[in-house]
Amino acid sequence: MSVKKILTEPNKLLRQVSMPVEKVGDQERQLMDDMLDTMYSANGIGLAAIQIGVPKRIIVMDLSKDENKKEPMYFVNPVIKNKNLEKAKYEEGCLSVPNQFAEIERPNGCEVEYLDYSGRKKILKADGLLATCIQHEMDHLEGILFIDYLSKLKKSMIIKKLSKSKLSRIVV
Ligand code: NI
Repeated sequence: MSVKKILTEPNKLLRQVSMPVEKVGDQERQLMDDMLDTMYSANGIGLAAIQIGVPKRIIVMDLSKDENKKEPMYFVNPVIKNKNLEKAKYEEGCLSVPNQFAEIERPNGCEVEYLDYSGRKKILKADGLLATCIQHEMDHLEGILFIDYLSKLKKSMIIKKLSKSKLSRIVV
């Protein structure tokens, strides 16, 4: 397992649509292990493969609150089968949009079909934070970031801020 670099906006790769995985093999499991390591070391609760530059439809998540009891979740080729009409609002952030947060409204529940770590087909009924998180991560597979739901002005302000912080990092 190794910690990879997380891409941050603005970055064209983050806007790419990720490709379906043909088979969950050792290479994919290695990738999921690396993703999980990367996510934990950045204190995130979810990460999509494209965030470390790999355009595959793979997501890892861990919503457990107890640091000593890890509960990793793996989603390969996830597809939303059903979503609730009712919405829920959460303040969202993203490892690829550092230090920026905004209230985003999404369906408050959904059903997701996916392949797990061993390639078995599974269905997850999600609500609450889990539903929001999986929808946020699945957006990454389409090249969508949570800031895309904000007004044009708010979004461009955030991107400007991030571009500036990137510049200063290079100067230092
Ligand atoms: Ni994100």
